Amino acid sequence: MCGIVAYIGHKEAYPILIKGLQRLEYRGYDSAGVALLNEKINLFKTKGKVSELVSHTAHKDTQGTIGIAHTRWATHGEPNSTNAHPHFSESENIAIIHNGIIENYESIREFLLQKGYKFRSETDTEVLVQLIEDVKKEGNYSLFESVRIALNQVVGAYAIAVISTDEPDKVVVARKGSPLVVGIGSEGDFYVASDAAPIVEYTKSVYYLDDEDIACLKANEKLHLKTIKNEVKDPLTEELDLNIDALEKGGFEHFMLKEIHEQPDSILDSMRGRISAKDNTVKLGGVEDYEKHILDAHRIIMVACGTSWHAGLVGEYLFEELARIPVEVEYGSEFRYRNPIITNDDVVIAISQSGETADTLAAIDLAKRKGALLLGICNVVGSSIARATHAGVYTHAGPEIGVASTKAFTAQVTVLTLIALRLGFLKKTIEEPVYHSLIKELEDIPNKVEEVLKTEKLIKEIAAKFKDARNFLYLGRGINFPVALEGALKLKEISYIHAEGYPAAEMKHGPIALIDENMPIVVIATKEGNYEKIVSNIQEIKARKGAVIAVVSKGDTTVAAMADYVIEIPKTEELLVPLLATIPLQLLSYHIAVMRGCNVDMPRNLAKSVTVE
Ligand code: G6P
Repeated sequence: MCGIVAYIGHKEAYPILIKGLQRLEYRGYDSAGVALLNEKINLFKTKGKVSELVSHTAHKDTQGTIGIAHTRWATHGEPNSTNAHPHFSESENIAIIHNGIIENYESIREFLLQKGYKFRSETDTEVLVQLIEDVKKEGNYSLFESVRIALNQVVGAYAIAVISTDEPDKVVVARKGSPLVVGIGSEGDFYVASDAAPIVEYTKSVYYLDDEDIACLKANEKLHLKTIKNEVKDPLTEELDLNIDALEKGGFEHFMLKEIHEQPDSILDSMRGRISAKDNTVKLGGVEDYEKHILDAHRIIMVACGTSWHAGLVGEYLFEELARIPVEVEYGSEFRYRNPIITNDDVVIAISQSGETADTLAAIDLAKRKGALLLGICNVVGSSIARATHAGVYTHAGPEIGVASTKAFTAQVTVLTLIALRLGFLKKTIEEPVYHSLIKELEDIPNKVEEVLKTEKLIKEIAAKFKDARNFLYLGRGINFPVALEGALKLKEISYIHAEGYPAAEMKHGPIALIDENMPIVVIATKEGNYEKIVSNIQEIKARKGAVIAVVSKGDTTVAAMADYVIEIPKTEELLVPLLATIPLQLLSYHIAVMRGCNVDMPRNLAKSVTVE
């Protein structure tokens, strides 16, 4: 985890670095730091958010045109200013920022301790910078060579930027397993960051480092690129397709609220050019060449974490219903450690907003070694998972900054619906009228989402009523069970209220014991699906005095008569209900969290992109 930024050029580095950190703060925010290179390295770091770093550096000497900066999500060592990055080598001639984990840091630390090195922090990163200094001293190497040689001794993941007073006109950067992008400025300058967000306002020409790439950046010179095995490489630059407005709050109080409200557009963007009710077609350019392979698959395994895993569960219903292909949905973190049976007849679909989640990435590495075809459903273009898979379909939801995922989820579900429709069409497992009406209805979903968003005022009232609850239960059946899970996760993540998602019928096998007048229960009770069954479940809850907040189809009177609150959503096809029913649950969590005074966009202990195990 963590976000890193670096700059080298003719401009003052400090404001560029701070702005960059603010754009990356979603990646971690328990401490932050910056190092500026002049004759010596001026290093400032603090516990807490980037705003605290800014207060800490007020009235200090932050001049310089070369610098590195970091916002941290702690892995080794508690979040305090000592463990914050950048880290100095012992002589304080070298400073480093690092995103990732050095797995063999203890043995390297032991080796360096025996040589007399002293350590200030508990971090694996300080071990790496000391190792670089040791290599440099022993072999009298350049900074670039020292970093390269040191990285060959390292096991683990890293995206790093290193500066040294011995070579005060360079920044050395490298990556393996953690993302790193270099923006090539028009004034002979370079902008480096964990993702393109801090770069896009300065340049659109970027180079995404590959694993084991190491580059030397010097103002007014070409990017000098090698692999850590010392092979010279040509940097193939790409043009960024990212709009700066997408990175701002655009008048909303929080990114999360903005992203919830963007869903009519983000869902539309995830379908754009891929679906046409007029021509009765679904077309997915990214996987076209692999369609036969997918249709011949014995089964499809979806791997993901968090919210993306919930999208995978919706995908399971869609694929099995429409394409009749068996699907398993796996947590990346479990899959990779249990010796799963995978053959080259399997297709593995990795679902990830960031495309950088370490557990998902490791799961697909494993599947690749076992011969499976790998497909990616990612939001971030050029991300590690997008590049590690054989083919894929981008969700095109635009940058998601709020830590709690919202628009990425509905875009993932949309893309999974498109793939399921396409496979069902090719396999002839969908009847023509069903295929046509699903396409038509899917095209209309953005309008219906717009309608759902109008329930916000009512949802705010419900939030005010239940904001002090200590527990929540979320229930759904069939394709809406994952929606219940997602609703509960959203509430936990941002309001710190304990919540559980359950298949409604399973309630009687345990959670029913929890129900009393203090327990709010959110039930997805739309007409489509097992409506009568859900109605009985609501009766069971009411018999135990639970407070029911029901998401119902427009015009429903049966549930309305029983429930304490009803939120109406437009009618749609059963398989598309998750795209609508999720939205009120996102809004409910958001407003409860705001009313409880929680930091919605940066909830405690979480980070947007978990690039460590
Ligand atoms: C983290 C985030 C979640 C996200 C999960 C998977 O835990 O806090 O919001 O769902 O990672 O992220 P991905 O980028 O792979 O979808």
